[in-house]
Amino acid sequence: MTISTNKSKTLFHLQTDHTSYIIQELENGELGQVYYGPKIHQKESYDNLMTREIHDATPSLSEGMQDFQPELIKQEYASFGKGDYRYPAFPIEQPNGSRITEFKLQNFAIKEGKSRLKDLPSTFDDTNDDAQTLVLNLKDQITDLNLDLNYTVFPHQDVIVRSSTFINSTAADYKINTAYSSQLDLPDANYDLIQFSGNWARERHLYRSPLRPGLQSVSSLRAASSHQQNPFIMLARPETDEQSGAAFGFNLVYSGNFKDSVEVDQFDASRVMVGINPDEFAWNLQSGTSFQTPEAIMSFTEDGMNQLSQQMGAFYTDHLVAPKFAKQERPILINNWEATYFDFDEKKLMSIVNKAHALGVEMFVLDDGWFGKRNDDTTSLGDWFVDKDKFPDGLGHFSQQVHDLGMKFGLWFEPEMISCKSKLHEDHPDWMVGDPNAQLIPSRHQFVLDMAKPEVVDYLYEKISQIMSDTKLDYIKWDMNRNITDTFSRYLKPEQQAEFAHRYMLGVYRLYDQLTKAFPEVLFESCASGGGRFDLGMMYYAPQAWTSDDTDAVERIKIQYGTSYGYPLSMMGAHVSAVPNDQNGRITSLKTRGAVAFFGDLGYELDITKISEEELKQTKEQIDFYKQYRNLFQFGKFYRIDSPFEEDGNITSWEVVSDDKSLAIVGRYQLLNHPSVAYQRQYFVGLDPNKQYTVNDSSETFYGDELMNAGYFVKMAQVDGNYSSDFHSDLLIAKEI
Ligand code: DGJ
Repeated sequence: MTISTNKSKTLFHLQTDHTSYIIQELENGELGQVYYGPKIHQKESYDNLMTREIHDATPSLSEGMQDFQPELIKQEYASFGKGDYRYPAFPIEQPNGSRITEFKLQNFAIKEGKSRLKDLPSTFDDTNDDAQTLVLNLKDQITDLNLDLNYTVFPHQDVIVRSSTFINSTAADYKINTAYSSQLDLPDANYDLIQFSGNWARERHLYRSPLRPGLQSVSSLRAASSHQQNPFIMLARPETDEQSGAAFGFNLVYSGNFKDSVEVDQFDASRVMVGINPDEFAWNLQSGTSFQTPEAIMSFTEDGMNQLSQQMGAFYTDHLVAPKFAKQERPILINNWEATYFDFDEKKLMSIVNKAHALGVEMFVLDDGWFGKRNDDTTSLGDWFVDKDKFPDGLGHFSQQVHDLGMKFGLWFEPEMISCKSKLHEDHPDWMVGDPNAQLIPSRHQFVLDMAKPEVVDYLYEKISQIMSDTKLDYIKWDMNRNITDTFSRYLKPEQQAEFAHRYMLGVYRLYDQLTKAFPEVLFESCASGGGRFDLGMMYYAPQAWTSDDTDAVERIKIQYGTSYGYPLSMMGAHVSAVPNDQNGRITSLKTRGAVAFFGDLGYELDITKISEEELKQTKEQIDFYKQYRNLFQFGKFYRIDSPFEEDGNITSWEVVSDDKSLAIVGRYQLLNHPSVAYQRQYFVGLDPNKQYTVNDSSETFYGDELMNAGYFVKMAQVDGNYSSDFHSDLLIAKEI
């Protein structure tokens, strides 16, 4: 039984293969949280787990209920103003201004499976993977509003998905001021918060710090999940490491303003909230309407952070990513951005295409600059028609040539944006986000289209789908190069302005939904100046994302390592680019650039007509090598071994292992080469201790336990062709014999 209740139907026990999550109706009819952690037996009640000390100086619910002190109760979805001084999950404003509610359990339903949400990206159970859904229906005693708390248990990945639905079947109108997707009240605070933060070209670096009293949070108010913070967080016991220890993972299926917070109260209990950022959000819950929050994902393991990443990653592959692409090998692409920037025409591109084809590259992606008059970034966004100066015979003609070679063809769009210098702006100056009375803030010389306005979404669908048909497109890179300022929609009514950021996202999702449904064969890659929208909302439509604009191999080690905590390798676009690197001028060997980019969806992003014969040969070898092991690199079990975020950080290593443990590849990266070393060893993980392996086709064989516990000798780095011995890499391939 995945979801069970007790005889009196007051207790709900959600069990995955290894975890239990228990909810209980409290004495006042509201819901309390009993437990989340390693799986425990089903019982009729867990009174002991709800017992707490009583404190004199703490409000009680009523004179008759002296020991019911809301501040001390682990709540399931906390209301506002009834003596629980921690942050609430959902204040709702009533016509008289009051925000006091008393939502009590009314009934519940348990259903098999999990269906998709209507207007939001969401999880699903198309493969009948034993998912069960529990809906707890609550009714407010004051307003008669209904609230559904939705839980789906995915037993085999140890994942629970939560969301809330506010339903107004009354005659009055209400306003939701906050609507978190999930809340978890843990009984202690002995955890580290692990977050993934950074900036443009430095996305998702790991930060780990012990919880302390008060509120700690990561969030975004950029109307994008952002480069700066990611919605994925972990709570881990201080002793938890990659291979062992307890850890919770939380993520949100959403791409806009979000907030994940952990509040440690005066009793050292921790409240975790995940959802839409309550700042810059309010929703008019008018009579006869409902509001659905995005879905939050929770997972727990006792077996360390690698296990947590693996189970959550496997869950996304099976229950979030478009099934067609979930396990489909991703093509090796070449993208012309860093090769040409805006300076190209058909002839120049065809010489890159032809050379790439000869090397075995499978897809050509035409990046920014093919439309309008876009010879730099000051113009033409919104003018989604081909630039005839660059493609005199049209884009269809160019794509035909690519297809004739047997290659796929991909195209860059930045649908949500508009340039002032554009035909679209001449025709529709009022389609921009922003208060017309104010001086609007440009960013990269561009402005944002009002995706909350249905006409804008319809226009974009028409233009983009036309080009997709004309070019028989195989792939879209959907970029978003600025965040929103001047938050104001001319389309929305004054009282709806606080809904804008969420309505913007709903517009983006509608466009994604229509395009992916009309062109189910087309692979989408999301991008936002690199990794500024690397989130599960995007991944639902676009199964891979451009991890970062920083293509330097050394920077990428940290970026990809950090990203791997929350997202599987198949989601990470990773390209080999030219040196000196365009972002930081660093020179690394082609070998190291390849060895980093292999761990993800491999691409090339350089002018291969300009590299030496020797490097062309090496590139061909890389492509052949990647094809041989592509499935492992994209879908193998990924393990982090040596962290670049450790104090020294000179060595990073990670590994992919096949499901049957017959094959593993370790990537080992050394920043600076040091003299006088003796026994440098690389420790494998995740192998079968009893299997025997060769390493890089060695004549000596090794048991799995030997490679994992005694390690494998790694030779000191040597000068690599024209490149120095710093920034060195090794790939160690263990094959079962
Ligand atoms: C930002 C992206 O991350 C780059 O890869 C490239 O597509 C540029 N935008 C184009 O403007």
